[in-house]
Amino acid sequence: MACDRPQPSSGPWIDMGAVEDLPPGTMKRYEREDHRILIANVDGTPFAVDDTCTHEDASLFSGALQGDKVKCPLHGSRFCLRDGRALDEPAETDLACYPARIHNGRVEIVILPGLT
Ligand code: FES
Repeated sequence: MACDRPQPSSGPWIDMGAVEDLPPGTMKRYEREDHRILIANVDGTPFAVDDTCTHEDASLFSGALQGDKVKCPLHGSRFCLRDGRALDEPAETDLACYPARIHNGRVEIVILPGLT
């Protein structure tokens, strides 16, 4: 698993598509009802965090992937994809992050209880 935060002991794992569709150095956005999750491939390892910046309502998917960090397109705060930490102001609150893995050629994530 990629997320450095505590992990649930089991899934359910949700299929995010073929790993070929998320090559290293790229991101994709998963939308489920009004919740958006950003999935990034960092050197072959998938990471999943909330897509909405914690400062204002900006989609990090529209920002820049910089190694294991994503930079917000609006005011430039960077977040660590490994643990969701806000690294720069003006964002002060960390992103939620989710377990992610590559399994049988598919990218999979777990959406934690309470999120839709
Ligand atoms: S909206 Fe992301 S840093 Fe302001």
